Order: sequence, then structure tokens, then C-alpha cells
Amino acid sequence: MNQLQGAPWLLAHRSMLKPNQPKKISLLGNDYVLWQDIHSKISALPNACPHMGAMLSEGWCVTQTDGSSVIACPFHALEFNHSGCTVLPGSNKQTQSLLKPLDLIIQGDFIWSYGDHEPKISIPSIMNEIAAEYEFIGVTGERSIPTDLLSLLLNMHDYNHQNGTHRDLFEIEQVEVKQFIDEGLHSHAYLSQLRKQPTFRDILKNPAQFALPKVLEAHLENFFPFMGLLHGEDKLLSLKECHFYLPESDRQSRVFVLMYMKAHSPIAHLLKNNLLRLIDVVVEQDAKILGKIYPNTPKQIKLNNEVGMDWVKRNFENFPTVVEPNLSR
Ligand code: FES
Ligand SMILES: [Fe+2]
Repeated sequence: MNQLQGAPWLLAHRSMLKPNQPKKISLLGNDYVLWQDIHSKISALPNACPHMGAMLSEGWCVTQTDGSSVIACPFHALEFNHSGCTVLPGSNKQTQSLLKPLDLIIQGDFIWSYGDHEPKISIPSIMNEIAAEYEFIGVTGERSIPTDLLSLLLNMHDYNHQNGTHRDLFEIEQVEVKQFIDEGLHSHAYLSQLRKQPTFRDILKNPAQFALPKVLEAHLENFFPFMGLLHGEDKLLSLKECHFYLPESDRQSRVFVLMYMKAHSPIAHLLKNNLLRLIDVVVEQDAKILGKIYPNTPKQIKLNNEVGMDWVKRNFENFPTVVEPNLSR
């Protein structure tokens, strides 16, 4: 199956790896164990122990005298270092590597990988620029969803689903794509989203309703296939909401969101936890609808504003080649 081999995938943000706590990561049908030692060195090995196949991610880390750590298998406690070597009981010699480490590209707090495939597109520098300029608020919305990557990407670039999937959150009645700039595997979408006007009773019930603008403007910047950014501007803060997508296997995909902001008012700092919770609810709603779709249903209706999905489909079918038509408008 086409899983866009040769694209870079963000496996995790460094904060998702607590020191010496193994984390299981699945990518393109393979499972790995990742861990970070107390000196922030990150290691990644295939997750199946070469003795009898136990999941190393269920094991524990053992710190060595130099501060580095090895991963101990939960079954018979063999310990593997970052290059996949172990020392067998009764021997005092290290074996050769029994597990081939996964190639990681670590840029600051960002842990990228091509999953041992030949790179076909490069890692954009934008996350490094955001990290240098903005305050990191946290990770949210991490979910492993039982859906294929294409369905996930279509949902994430579907500008009409706010009024169904997320209706109770934003109460959006109408969406207009003001501009779509198609630059091949990179694109920008500028949306105007008209919200239902709250009634007097709604405002009495929830005064926050009054503060939300009538029209939500959104600038989305898309990097096919691994990332989508929402650039948010407000009087209180500038927000960078960075969504990451990964194919875990044919029928399982992972998402998570890294949140950054620049406060223009001290009040903005009070909103951090609310923002993380809000986005977690958004992703939960996406995960829920993705589990309620019949696959392979013939599509007999096309709505306005499906340009983001057209962009996804075109790029998915031809990756990494960019073909016509250009969808800018
Ligand atoms: S299965 Fe891992 S040590 Fe035996
Ligand atoms: Fe959504």
C-alpha cells in the first residue's frame, strides 16, 4: 500500500520522552522503542527483542556509569544499548548489533525520521523557526486512530467538517475559502468561517460566547503529507498550532499537536491550559468521526471548499511528483 515512503515524519517532540521512560512508536508497519537518557541522548531500536520477541517498550531503562542508558527487556532482562548490542549472561563480551537502530534526524526538540526509507523530500525549517521565536505551550491531542493515512489527511484538510464534526465547539455556519495557494507539496489556505450568532439567552448562559468574533479567520499552512500549521493572530496572543500526522500501519494513523504562542498580554498565559484542552477535544472529535465512516463509499456529491481535499488526493496519488492541475485560486 502507498504510505508515501520517503516523506519525513515527526516521531515526537522531545518533551514526549520522559528521561529513561521507553516509548513505543509505530511507523510504516514497524514498531520501535524510543528512549532518552539523562544527558538527552535519544535512541531508537526495533521493538521486538531478538531473544523471544518481547516488546522492549514494556521494559525499563538502566543508567550506566557514564550516564547513558540501555533498554532492558521485560521478559528475561537482557539489556540492549543504543546500537542494539547486548552482553549475554556468563559472558563479559558485547555481542554484535542484533537490532538495527532506526535512523533519527534530531533538530533541537524535534525527532524526525524517514523510517529507513530513502528521503524524497526534505524537512522544512519552519518548526525550528517557530521554536526559536515562540514559547512552547505543550503537546496535545495525541491519538492513535484506526484509520488509514489518506482518510486522516482528507479529514484534516476538509474545510467543511467544522459544521458537522466540531459543530458544538465553534458553531460555524458557513465556510469560505478566500484564497488557496498551491505550491505543490506545500500550500496555504485562508478561510473565513462565519459563526452562528448567539442569542441573548446563549450569552446569558455562556458569556464567553460574546467574546468570540462573528467571523473566525484562519490561515492554514500545509506540508504534504506530514504536517499542517494553523497560524492564529489575536489581540491577546499569536498562536502556532502545529498538527503532525504519521502512518503507523496500513489501517492505523497517529496525530499529535504541538502548541506555541507569543503573548501580547499577560492574560494570554492564563489561557495555555484551556488551549491545550480545547485542541484535545477537537482531535477527539476528529478521531470519533474517522471511526464512523464506511470505507470505499462512492462519492456522489462534491461541496464547495473541497480544494484542500483535492490537493491531498492529487499529492497522495503522485507523491513525490507534483502534477497538474494547480489548484490555486
Ligand atoms: S525475550 Fe527479551 S530477553 Fe528474552
Ligand atoms: Fe477536525
